[in-house]
Amino acid sequence: MIAEKQTSSATYSQENMPDYYRPLESRTVLTGFTGGIALCRAVDYSRKIISLGAGIIPVMTRHAAKLVSPVTMAALTGKKVHMELFSLEDAASIPHIELARSADLFLVMPATANFMAKAASGLADDLLSTVLLAFEGPVLFYPSMNPSMYSNPVTESSMRRLRELGYTVVDPDQGKTACGEKGRGRLPSWPAVRQSILKAVTPQTLKGMKILVSAGPTREPLDPVRYISNRSSGRMGYAMAESAATRGADVTLVTGPVSIQAPGVRDICRVETAAQMADAVLGRSAEMDVIVMTAAVADYAPCQACDTKIKKVEDKLTVHLKKTQDILAELVNRRTRNQVIIGFCAETGDLEARTAEKIRNKGADLMVGNDVTMPGAGFDVQTNRVIVVSADGSVETLPMMDKREVAERIWYIVEKQFIRSSVD
Ligand code: CTP
Repeated sequence: MIAEKQTSSATYSQENMPDYYRPLESRTVLTGFTGGIALCRAVDYSRKIISLGAGIIPVMTRHAAKLVSPVTMAALTGKKVHMELFSLEDAASIPHIELARSADLFLVMPATANFMAKAASGLADDLLSTVLLAFEGPVLFYPSMNPSMYSNPVTESSMRRLRELGYTVVDPDQGKTACGEKGRGRLPSWPAVRQSILKAVTPQTLKGMKILVSAGPTREPLDPVRYISNRSSGRMGYAMAESAATRGADVTLVTGPVSIQAPGVRDICRVETAAQMADAVLGRSAEMDVIVMTAAVADYAPCQACDTKIKKVEDKLTVHLKKTQDILAELVNRRTRNQVIIGFCAETGDLEARTAEKIRNKGADLMVGNDVTMPGAGFDVQTNRVIVVSADGSVETLPMMDKREVAERIWYIVEKQFIRSSVD
């Protein structure tokens, strides 16, 4: 069931809201910590994984325990830390088999060159490597090390072998590593890690699809220091992009200037003005299967931006604005066969009628509307409450949810209507 009626008219504030986004609820993630310096960040990530609803089973190697004490690990994860393959305490059970059976997902974070070499050749000489052999679900390695160690042919061959064996090896980031050298070897950012985890547990229903998402506001310059813009935070568009990538799509994000962290998608194109957004979106549109116009594109821009700062001379200042190109309407004009085009609209009342009118006028396949005057919806909040209007006039009303969950629901609707004939 997707459609749920709005259940309550109670007023919500962001502070008293429960954490709605728990996509790992009822999943157990076995997190294997090996002895890399990125271990500290990995511990922080494991707390974030817990906040996504997952249960955690921490397993540490002997070297990891030299960098972070198992007591600290237990305190930070709130869980018993497992280290010993042969333990008198657990002598009545077979810990490596029990651990392997109780997890849905297995992460090795950070994954040292040593541990990957062991795993690639099937060595099982400690608890973590033995549980790995007994585990039958998805496994993700997060290599993190000095750039020379990372590019060493032996490490490369271990990673190649792990991939051949069906494991996922998540590429590390480029940048300054703990040893002070620059290169590839940094543990990826949390959005990229989160995305890889969600992808591992999400059916790849959009695999093979090329999807463009536009997001954020545009800025229309008045002079070199001032611009006209709007309050879009980019959150809804970024959530749409991240959710599509999690479902296996090849995602291009065209984004106006925002201050939130970029999602882990293949291609990010940063623009500023409505004209630049039009160029970026229309220039890529022909090759896309789905285009989602989440961006709050400025409808008007100054006829001419001044080259120098406008001085405070007159009591009144008149600025002449001209309409910008309607990108969504142009996308519909150029629509290629089977292309799905989705619009978003922010309204201030009469939501259903205005959204229905907009989908009719613009000719999109779906229009997602929200009323920015409603509590828990709109620009500066983490949540949204939207209606999804189809071209035939049918309306689905979603309750207030985290924007990331709204995005998941919208993709579910898109898949059901346009991509697959039946969705469970
Ligand atoms: N849009 C667009 N190009 C523009 C303005 C809007 O592609 N120049 C897209 C938005 O990205 C969104 C949809 O059109 O997907 C609806 O935006 P909205 O601003 O609500 O529509 P407008 O036609 O500008 O109507 P309004 O008069 O309500 O602003």
